[in-house]
Parts: sequence; C-alpha cells; structure tokens
Amino acid sequence: MKNALFENYLKWFQNHRNSYPNTPPLVEENFTLKELHTYEVIKNAEQIADFLSFSHEELFLAKTTALFHDLGRFQQFYQYQTFLDRISANHAELSVTILRKDSVLSHLSEKESSLILDAILYHNRYEIPLDAPKKTTLFSKILRDSDKLDIWRVLADYYYEQRRNNKNPALEYGLLDNGKYSPFVVESFKKNECIKIEDRKTVNDIIVYHLSWIFNVYFPITLKLADERKLFDKIFSALPDSPEKKEVFASFQEFMNKAAKCF
Ligand SMILES: [Fe+2]
Repeated sequence: MKNALFENYLKWFQNHRNSYPNTPPLVEENFTLKELHTYEVIKNAEQIADFLSFSHEELFLAKTTALFHDLGRFQQFYQYQTFLDRISANHAELSVTILRKDSVLSHLSEKESSLILDAILYHNRYEIPLDAPKKTTLFSKILRDSDKLDIWRVLADYYYEQRRNNKNPALEYGLLDNGKYSPFVVESFKKNECIKIEDRKTVNDIIVYHLSWIFNVYFPITLKLADERKLFDKIFSALPDSPEKKEVFASFQEFMNKAAKCF
C-alpha cells in the first residue's frame, strides 16, 4: 500500500515541477537540476536506510522526506531566479508550506506527516535542533546525509566538467571568480569545522564550503559511498593548484583516513 502511495507522491511531485508556466531556459535548466537531484537523494536515502536495516514503513518515510525536501526550490527559482535563501526565501519552509497548502500528506497519520515536515524543515539548517524528538533527528540525519551526497555529485559534475562550456550562475551565487580562497575559510577547514554559508566569498570558497560537510556526516556509509563514487577526487581535481589547496587536501586526507576506519 505504501508503495502505491509513494508512486502517487512521485506523480504529484512531477506535476508540481511542470506546473510553472513559461519557464525561460535558465529556469528550465535549474528545474531539471533540482528534479534530478531529488531522484538521486531518494536513491541515497534508500541506500542509507538499507544500511540501517530499516523496515518497509521506515523506508517509505525516508523516501517521502527525500522526495519533498526541495519542493520549494521550484517556486523559489521561478520567483527569484536564485537558490540563495538569504536573498529570496527559505526553501525548506517553502516546501512545507506547499505540502500543507495542498494537503499532500493527508493520507498519513499526524505523527508520520509531522515527522516528514520537520525533517524537511531541518534539512537546510546549520544544525538539527537539539530538542528535536529522537525519531525526527534520525530521519533528519538520513535526509541531510543523502542530500550532501548528491550535492557533492552536482558539484563534482559541474566544476569537473560542465563549467568549462556552460556556466550556471545559480551554482556560483555571484561570488568572486578570482582563483583565490578566503583565509578564514581555509583556516576553518583545517580546524575541521563546517564552514558557514555566509563566509563564502569566492568560487573556490564554495567548493571548500561543500567539502567541509564531511565534518558533519552522520553515517560512515555516506563517506564510503562518496569515496566509491570518486566524488572527492573530481572535486579536488577541479580546484586550481595552490598552497591553500594543498593545506585543504592535507586536512581532508587526514580526516578521511580516520573516518575510513569506520567504513
Ligand atoms: Fe535543500
């Protein structure tokens, strides 16, 4: 029964994605990017749920959370032509607003829908609220790791390949493309800290910022999958050689060598 419900949710999601009229090429490109991202995040959530030996019901919840986590991205990009929440709207809150407005989760129990909505709400926060219920925290962690994994894929593909021929301003956030790194960003990385979004000043900072998510991975399987998919190799090879790159890479390797013991 839950399989059929998930299929309906998938169709609803696709209808929503196609419901915005007259999308210009830049909007269409980024809608497709987010649609594909969503499907990949679902697959990642399945793999992590499998690793955690989830039941059929729990798997359904993890997949549904993944399916709807970035729903608000379509409205956000359509209205503001940016993925930057700071200058547009909080896309996680937008996702929840749309799901509530259209009563999308009305077939679920109050408990199930609250869990899904809260996990969506927490997916783009710097941290999961410490007072969140245990189960919400678990599903938030799965979503955040599944999301990280696919954002690394998007980043690897974009900086490794696509950027050479076709720059996408939505992935560069109007930041400086001067080949430099902000010293604060490099220092934070060396301290194994998750870099804050507002500290990014250059295109290289964007890459280091995303790499710093390794310090906030919840499940060892996430780093194992990223490693197997060679995502970090691609991301590093896209960074221009410099002393800063060497420093970041040394910290990265040290951290990953320790983490690999848990794989
Ligand atoms: Fe998101």
